[in-house]
Parts: sequence; C-alpha cells; structure tokens
Amino acid sequence: MAVARNSTFDDPFYQPADEFFPANNKIGLTFDDITLATLYSEILPRDTQLDTALADLLHLHIPIISSDMDTVTESRMAIAMALNGGLGLIHYNMPERQQLSEVSRVKNHVHGLIQDPIQVFPHQQIGDVLKTIEERKFTFSTFPVVDEKGKLVGLLSGHVVKPRYAAKKISEALTPRAQVHTITKKELGRDPIARADKFFTEHIGIHKLLVVDDDDHLHGLITMSDVERITQERKAQFKPARDAHLHLICGAAISATRNAFGELNRDHILNHVGALVERGVDAVAVSTAHGHSRGVGDTVKMLRDAFSKLPIIAGNVTSAAAVDFLADCGANAVKVGQGPGSICTTRIVAGVGIPQLTALYVASRAARRKRVTLLADGGITKSGDIVKALTLADAVICGGILAGCREAPGDVMEIGGKLYKKYRGMGSIAAMKEGSAASYGHAPDPARKVAPEGIEALKEVAGSVDRVLAQLIGGIQSGMGYLGAANLAQLREKARFIRVSPAGQREAVPHDVVELKTGN
Ligand code: XMP
Repeated sequence: MAVARNSTFDDPFYQPADEFFPANNKIGLTFDDITLATLYSEILPRDTQLDTALADLLHLHIPIISSDMDTVTESRMAIAMALNGGLGLIHYNMPERQQLSEVSRVKNHVHGLIQDPIQVFPHQQIGDVLKTIEERKFTFSTFPVVDEKGKLVGLLSGHVVKPRYAAKKISEALTPRAQVHTITKKELGRDPIARADKFFTEHIGIHKLLVVDDDDHLHGLITMSDVERITQERKAQFKPARDAHLHLICGAAISATRNAFGELNRDHILNHVGALVERGVDAVAVSTAHGHSRGVGDTVKMLRDAFSKLPIIAGNVTSAAAVDFLADCGANAVKVGQGPGSICTTRIVAGVGIPQLTALYVASRAARRKRVTLLADGGITKSGDIVKALTLADAVICGGILAGCREAPGDVMEIGGKLYKKYRGMGSIAAMKEGSAASYGHAPDPARKVAPEGIEALKEVAGSVDRVLAQLIGGIQSGMGYLGAANLAQLREKARFIRVSPAGQREAVPHDVVELKTGN
C-alpha cells in the first residue's frame, strides 16, 4: 500500500540535506543540534543492510571503523572490528616493524588454517615446552612435532604436557606419526572449512587436523574450535569483513613524515607502505590533523602512483575544497573531522575546526561530485550520532566509544571502585612523546607540533567490542527502521532534518526522573 506524504505541512519543517544545510549556513551544526524526522516505513530494523563500499577493493559489512589511535587500535581491536564486519586502522605511534607485525596478526587470524603453528622437536624435554607456554602465555598445549627439515614426526598431546613429565623427552611422549590425523593441502580443496568440518564430524574426539604436503612437511594446523567459530560466523547477520582470500581485513595509518630538511621522506614512506602491502594490508590511511596540505597531497599522489589499486584513506578535512584536493591527488576515502573528538583540543588551542554535521554536509557534496567516499571521524558518543553521520557519510570512525573495550590496548585500572582504561589524543603530550620514541633512530620530524592538541583521559571499562558494536548496530538499524531505509543509500536519500532548540535537547535525554539504570 502506497502511503502519500502530507508534503504541504511536512516539507517546510523537515527538510532534505540540500535544503536544510544551506538554509542554516550561518551557523556550524553538530549531532545534538539536529534531529531526523521519522517517515512512513515498511522496513523492520532487523532487515536493514549496513554494507558499505569505501573503495573498489574495500567493502565493509557494518559502517564502523576503529580509530588509528594508540589507545584504540592494535591487532586485537582490528581483529574484533573485522570479525564484526567493520575495519580497524592500526595506529602508527609504534616502530614500523611492530606495525607490520600487528597487520600480520590480523591478516593471519583464524582464517581456518593456522599457517605457522608453533612446533616442537623430538630432542626437547616436556619441561622446555612448559616453560615456553608460561613465557609466551599460550592458551593451548598440543603441538606438532617436526624434525630439523620440517617433516612431521608426531603430535605432542596436551595430556602429556604436565609438570610430572617435565624431565621426559618429547620423543618418548609423542603420539607417533602413523597415528596422527593429517590431510594434504590439495585434499583441503576450495573450501577448507567445510572439508575440516566434515573431518571433525567423522572423527569423534579429534580436535586438531594437521596439514602436510606430499613429502610430509608440516604446512598448517586446523583446530575444531576455529572451524566451529567460522561456521557460526557464516550464520551471523553481519559477516566478518574478509578479503578475497578469506583473511580478515585490516587498515594501517601512516604519517607524511619529513626528513631533517623538511622534505617528504619519500623512500621511507614508499618502503614502509610497500612492506604493509606485502603483509596484505587492505587500506592505508594518511592520517594528519590537516589533510588539506601539500605534504598530505604529495604523499597521497606518490602512493597512488606506486600502488594503483591500494585503497587510500586521507584526512582530516572539513571543506569541499579539501575533499576536491585529496580526491584529485588519488584518495578513495576522505576523513572528515577537525576538533570534534572527545579528547581533542584543536578548536581551543588553534581556534580552528567546524562542528561536525556542517563539515560533513559541505564535504559530502564535493565527495559525491568527485566519486570518493566520506568517513565521519570523531565526536560520536551514541548510536543516534552514527545514524545522523550516515545521512551524509559512508562510514564513521570511532575512538572514545571503543577505548573502554577489552580489545583496546592498555591495562585496566581501578579508581574508587570503578574500572577504567586510559584514552588519549594522538596530539596529547604523552602520545607525541611516544611517537618520538617510536621513530627513534630517525631524524625528528620538523613538522611535529609544539603545542598539544589533545588530552589524556580515562574511559570506563565497556566490556567486549562485540557487545559495544551490537548496541551501536542495534541503534543504527532502529534509526533506519524509523526512516523506512532498507540500506545506507536509502538512509542518505530519505533523511529529513530539523534543528533542535536547547529545550528540545533537554527533552531528548532522560529528564525529570531519578535514573536507576542507564540504557547500556
Ligand atoms: P572520538 O570522539 O571518537 O574521536 O573520541 C576520535 C578522533 O579524534 C581525533 N583525534 C584527535 N583530534 N587532537 C585532536 O584534535 C588529538 O590529540 C586527537 N587524537 C585523535 C581522530 O580523528 C580520532 O579518530
């Protein structure tokens, strides 16, 4: 049944972006300044699709990216983001070698086959193995046993890796080769998970399957728990974000570093990005506070020339001219946001920056013309902000909302009976100091800032990324249901905006009650 809109009364109040923002062009607006009008809907929240394509080779199943900050995204966060269908951007406030291994950790995570399983040798003692487990904090105790040429000799089962056998040699304790279940790479075929799943069903009580080549060299290990997790994922509404080889996707941030003479460190940047590409990185983000600048433009151009297919994210900007500039340089996605972040002081220190929704509107019109995508970066504190951001952008970047999660780097600390994690701006004094330490051995970057533009803060511990994202996704789907939008393109097209008065803002949050439990 088609339901006509009563456009005579509604239209002057609830305006599409192209009427609303130009009509409010004398004032910078951000999330709480506006609200979205509800529209006739036949769409149930659970049926909405959240897929977003940020570049030809960069597809996410949910439009959420974790920020490239040293208290938000390292491999654990990036893995959790990708498993939920999003993307993590590994920060660059660490030695480059370490950033490469962080990317490798994500790319090699549970894709069914563990390609470099930890191996042990027949001459070692069980005590040696126990020591390694303790030192490297392994959560498993079954290991393939190989000879010095990498040929499979047997399996050391967790049942015998016990202190009472510490003095025994592995050769005395192993399950011999003839009794170990193996499969060849060829036999695994095109769908290793389905093949392994069948194997585990057929072999009661066997939880590990070793993969060998025709000469019996060990090539990998498949565990039943990984297979079960992946099979489960295949049934979830939002599938993990994987590349063409079924590896989880992962992004990495880089900076436009300069040498002692103030020139762009071309060779250095190219070598590092080349190494990231070799590790399988799915996108690089040229991340700076001022993306509309020669250094960022030259870096993006240089990377585009060198890596024609690599998805490049660049930013941050808040104007249409800046989007045009970065698009012309070769960026695929542009980060919008100068000063909206929860730990940012750019607006106070430098007196610059634009409230986020106005910035997003202006940038989005240039992005549409240039066929680049937009990432709304910073200032998101609740799912409703994400719905509003997605009326103008293709995805959001979140820092603070994820920084309290268990997967964010850093330890949990207890203060006054409450648990917290540290969250700090990348332009804070502490983060900048760490950045200098990370680039130890290189000339200090002459572009490094003197006045900090970020603070150090604490976030209350928020549980797992799965839980936080489930809440956020639920909110986004709910918003889409209210607007009758089945997907993100429809959300952008259907959104109708109205400004909210200060009294309207107070009305929007719980009021005139004593709150017993928060919504979370
Ligand atoms: P939220 O609001 O999600 O913001 O915590 C995260 C975003 O803030 C930016 N960022 C900074 N901005 N000074 C700034 O002005 C800083 O020190 C700083 N550190 C991070 C960044 O865009 C991030 O994604």
